[in-house]
Amino acid sequence: MEDQRGHWSSSFGFVLAATGSAVGLGNLWKFPFVTWENSGGAFVLIYLVCIAAVGLPIMMAELLIGRKAQKSPVGALKAAVGPAWGIVGGWGVLCGFILLSYYTVIAGWSLFYFSKTLGWTAGGFPTDLQMGDLFGEQVSNGGLQVGLSLLFSIATVSIVYFGVQKGIERIAKIFLPILFSILLLMLISAARMEGFGESLAFIFIPHFGELEPAGILEALGHAFFTLSLGMGAMITYGSYLERRQSIVKSAGIIVLLDTIIGLVAATIMFAVIFSVAGMEEQVSGSTVGMLFISLPQLFYTEVPFGTILGPLFYLLIALAALTSTISLLEVVASYVIDEHGVGRHKATVLCGATIFIFTILSALSFGAVDGLSTFEIFQGKPGWFSTADHFVSNWMLPTGGFAITMAAGWFMTRESTMAELAGESEPAWFSYEVWRFFIRFVAPAAVASIIIAVMFFGTDFS
Ligand code: PHE
Repeated sequence: MEDQRGHWSSSFGFVLAATGSAVGLGNLWKFPFVTWENSGGAFVLIYLVCIAAVGLPIMMAELLIGRKAQKSPVGALKAAVGPAWGIVGGWGVLCGFILLSYYTVIAGWSLFYFSKTLGWTAGGFPTDLQMGDLFGEQVSNGGLQVGLSLLFSIATVSIVYFGVQKGIERIAKIFLPILFSILLLMLISAARMEGFGESLAFIFIPHFGELEPAGILEALGHAFFTLSLGMGAMITYGSYLERRQSIVKSAGIIVLLDTIIGLVAATIMFAVIFSVAGMEEQVSGSTVGMLFISLPQLFYTEVPFGTILGPLFYLLIALAALTSTISLLEVVASYVIDEHGVGRHKATVLCGATIFIFTILSALSFGAVDGLSTFEIFQGKPGWFSTADHFVSNWMLPTGGFAITMAAGWFMTRESTMAELAGESEPAWFSYEVWRFFIRFVAPAAVASIIIAVMFFGTDFS
């Protein structure tokens, strides 16, 4: 039978698509605030170690499982590792389903602030506006929240609908260069600000006395989230690779780009914050709101060329989020396509619509509907959104990631993983034996420590 599955048209297209999946709200929204909360330098250094020692080997493992099997996670793990491993794939599909359902809500906020900043740029910034109030009003407006998420879901579905090459790859090729350019413009602008030096020092000079043990584990948890690992997204993207397309080199580039973008985003945001007197204290009160409460007005008062960069910045967030949501929907849709023989168009719409039902619950859990906003399953995580995020970040990604290390390090034979990784024109920095040591020992030990921390010490990674 003819091979009906899609393929990336080139390694370059694949690298852009996978980088698009990795670069998202994790880099622009989560990374800056966890770095801030953990006092910078030392946390960043530990995070970089986690990326290199845990993230990179697992990225290669996921890609190799996908490319070897040419199937989405459930089928891929069954084929590459063993029939029982389909469960791990199913866990990933479920994780993609839940993660997409709430990620879309935050992505929707970027649309709101994009349109707001466009309005302010055109009509002037209203000086009497309180950003905290604006934020509170928008998140608790149920109709607005559902509407914004719906817009974002429709955008996601309409890209995945067109498949791997004509949808996902094509969009990545257009969006990622735009995203890089906007970020570069912002970096140039930030470099002209007074707080730039202080920002660099905060991020790159480690002070180990300031890092709490929980911060180490938080760095590890974030490494998973930001690289889209632990739930099969990279298995799925790897399954559209052809044998001649390199895994090792691609994984290196994806991980490097994702890391640079997180660091640049944090540098820009802290440069703005350090440039404004009193801002530091204000931000500490609400680090999560950094992006949507502290920053918006500063574009109009502090940032050079801020009137142009303001809307561009929120556009950047929306584009970054969109190239991530399409990878999440692709995990779920490709499962339905591969395992249940449903056509792509039907599968995409069906999955998109089903997931959206749960998006509504998240969208209404920021104050719009009382019951949805206040119930508490996990202590200190009230409401549907926080419950879902807590469950995914603390339970699903680490356990999924741990299973992948077991699959690639212990259950697949040395020959089979070696055939995927070592046969290629290996870059000088890569050694199969080192990879094997990391995937068998270092990565699982590190991930197990997260899981243990969550179970026994109640550490929170969301
Ligand atoms: N990596 C994405 C981000 O940083 C989130 C994501 C996780 C996307 C898992 C796909 C799969 O925002």
